[in-house]
Amino acid sequence: MKPFIKWAGGKNFVLASLQNFFPSKQNNFNYAEPFLGGGAMFFYLANNFNLQKIVLNDVSPKLIATYLAVQKYCKQLVVLLNNLQQQYWQSNQEQQKALFYQWREAFNNISFSCPLSLNKSTILEVSSLFIALNKTCFNGLFRTNKQNAFNSPFGYHLKPTIIDEHNLQKCSQALQKASITCQDFSETLNNLTDNFFIYLDPPYKPISKTSSFNSYFGDFNDQSQQKLALLLQQISHQHHILLSNSDDGTDFFTNLYSDFFINKIAVARSINSKGKARGKISELVISNYNNFLQNEQQSLEFNF
Ligand SMILES: C[S@@+](CC[C@H](N)C(=O)[O-])C[C@H]1O[C@@H](n2cnc3c(N)ncnc32)[C@H](O)[C@@H]1O
Repeated sequence: MKPFIKWAGGKNFVLASLQNFFPSKQNNFNYAEPFLGGGAMFFYLANNFNLQKIVLNDVSPKLIATYLAVQKYCKQLVVLLNNLQQQYWQSNQEQQKALFYQWREAFNNISFSCPLSLNKSTILEVSSLFIALNKTCFNGLFRTNKQNAFNSPFGYHLKPTIIDEHNLQKCSQALQKASITCQDFSETLNNLTDNFFIYLDPPYKPISKTSSFNSYFGDFNDQSQQKLALLLQQISHQHHILLSNSDDGTDFFTNLYSDFFINKIAVARSINSKGKARGKISELVISNYNNFLQNEQQSLEFNF
């Protein structure tokens, strides 16, 4: 099982390092992820552990509508995606391009703020377009303009897999128990009762003035990072907390998380604006515990 969409900042390639920082001796636990994105960590944990209560959240309405469709209406979604894939595969490149922009316009014309109150047909329409666009756009990345309209250009993929039915069904099974919400992270964190393992992967603090890009819904600035750190301190006694962020080379995070443990990992990332050159950069792994799984056996399975 792997994420059913590609997402900016997706953690697929970092999981091997991050697993070293999981809390030790936990096989059955409650899991919360307030910045879900493509859900790489959730699907990885669902593959390897016995998750009890599951709370998943992201502020992006169309992303969450798509999770709801996979959770509740997977069969119908598979049919719609198969139709879109057939339509695309049967077209020549010029027709594929026209089709892509037609899908993009239809997707942007659907507007709502709360996916949880949508009817079934709208959820299915928006989610099938969301996945099809994700598989056919440039670089497979969901990018939006200031009005939150999807604006990634056509990707020139000749025969992309728009629907991986087997994987989508497995994702749907993994989501059955999950409570899925679309709200600010603070509401999700404030509503957690019991003990949770919480993984937080917020939009990163930009490491340079030019590295900031708008791939996400809304704005996440230094004040948001501060609000998050304050809230995590307040609920820290109750949960195991693990957070990823950029290593911006300043003492911003060391000051914010002075009561937490801060480690660094080396991560392969695009290092120039065209995204072609890749290199290793350092990222922060912040936790409120230091009894890590890396001190124990490491026999987890990696599928990504
Ligand atoms: C770095 S991405 C998460 C990537 C994810 N870990 C993955 O593997 O794909 C950050 C996510 O936070 C979401 N987000 C931004 N601001 C938010 C907020 N205030 N509350 C909740 N989610 C937010 C964005 O929509 C985005 O999906």
